Amino acid sequence: MAKNGSGKSQATKIAGRSGVAAAKVKPARLKSAAIIRAGSRAQAVSITPGAAKRLVSEKAERFTESVIREMTRQAQLHGAMNLAQGFPDFSAPAELKRAAQQAIENDVNQYAITWGAKNLRQAIARQATTWQGMEVDPEKNITVCCGSTEAMIASLLAVTNPGDEIVCFEPYYENYGPDAILSGARPRFVSLRPPANGTGEWTFDEGELRRAFNRHTKAVIVNTPNNPTGKVFTRAELQLIAELCQQHNALAITDEIYEHIIYDGAEHISMARLDGMSERTITINGISKTYSVTGWRVGWAIAPALLSNAIRKVHDFLTVGAPAPLQEAAAVGLSLPQTYYVELAQGYRRRRDRLHAALTEAGFKAYMPRGAYYMMTDIRSFGFADDVSFTRHLVKEIGIAAVPGSSFYSQSGQGSQQVRFAFCKKDATLEEAARRLLRIGKKRN
Ligand SMILES: Cc1ncc(COP(=O)(O)O)c(C=O)c1O
Repeated sequence: MAKNGSGKSQATKIAGRSGVAAAKVKPARLKSAAIIRAGSRAQAVSITPGAAKRLVSEKAERFTESVIREMTRQAQLHGAMNLAQGFPDFSAPAELKRAAQQAIENDVNQYAITWGAKNLRQAIARQATTWQGMEVDPEKNITVCCGSTEAMIASLLAVTNPGDEIVCFEPYYENYGPDAILSGARPRFVSLRPPANGTGEWTFDEGELRRAFNRHTKAVIVNTPNNPTGKVFTRAELQLIAELCQQHNALAITDEIYEHIIYDGAEHISMARLDGMSERTITINGISKTYSVTGWRVGWAIAPALLSNAIRKVHDFLTVGAPAPLQEAAAVGLSLPQTYYVELAQGYRRRRDRLHAALTEAGFKAYMPRGAYYMMTDIRSFGFADDVSFTRHLVKEIGIAAVPGSSFYSQSGQGSQQVRFAFCKKDATLEEAARRLLRIGKKRN
């Protein structure tokens, strides 16, 4: 992981409230990388740091590579278990795999309609109605993208102008920071505070949220169920956000990728369902998490026609389209029976409880999530200087990769005693992790 001057993590740090970018990436590698082959002899060409700097955009310099994906590489380097990145280590549903194979067998090899294969859009619209009571026209309101990741950046590029502000709850899924920078918008963060005793909800201050909205606000990003906190936003909280969007003529861009992974009777409510919000909400979702196929890269944005038209244009020029055969398989996934979703949530609840018990036994304060498949923890009891030295110890000495909490915050110092674990793993993986975690406890004593 790259380091800044203080030796702290190069977590994805971005412009905070001050609007001052934390430019921390130096294009140093370019200096020695340029090699020209002349005949059989390699000739090294040196580019001065000043010249090299000009070759990299200011935007790209304002954020670092993904800490989460870097932790996956660390796990591979040290042969550690990967509880860092949120991808399952178990199989995807057989029906989806068969459908993907069949689609390739049937020569579904060429570009699909750029905004998505018709049958997939129909399946998405049907499910949005079944699960959330939303009225969605598959011809006008849906753009299928390369994962919800592309749906988010395409949406932001489609709606923001320089100087616009995006309200974002913090800690946040690390992509949103660079997404805001790439789209030329300024993020404004509103704190989510952990429950004092570890079992309640993460909450935000109403006054702080109200103050974050102003005449520059273009949109608020709401990720529910939430990564990394596991918070499921309540109806009252969503109603407050909706009221502010309407007051300030702002959009809500909701990331609902963990829609079906909820626990303890929590209810997932789509913002678009609330009064007056369907015309100002972009609902983002995808198949990665619900069907355990994070590598397939199929997601979508549901939006009113005006916004969909803009998103479709951006999407077309970004990627043209999502993988055609996998769109066919996604349509099959969206047609699985209700029992699939019940079992999905039950399986994750079992994994959540197992990891929570293991982390608690090992000496962590683990915040119990109500949704998604991550567990934020407080590591103060271990006496490490910060989250980065702790996760380094964890990956090298204990054999477990986790994500430093600071990577979910905009300012350095924040989250420095927090670490996130993913539990989208087989029972056997979690059992082995539980055994290894106990070794930190022994080391500490
Ligand atoms: C909140 C959130 N949104 C989006 C994504 C990425 O989704 P996709 O695979 O559809 O791009 C993730 C993956 O971890 C996530 O946690």
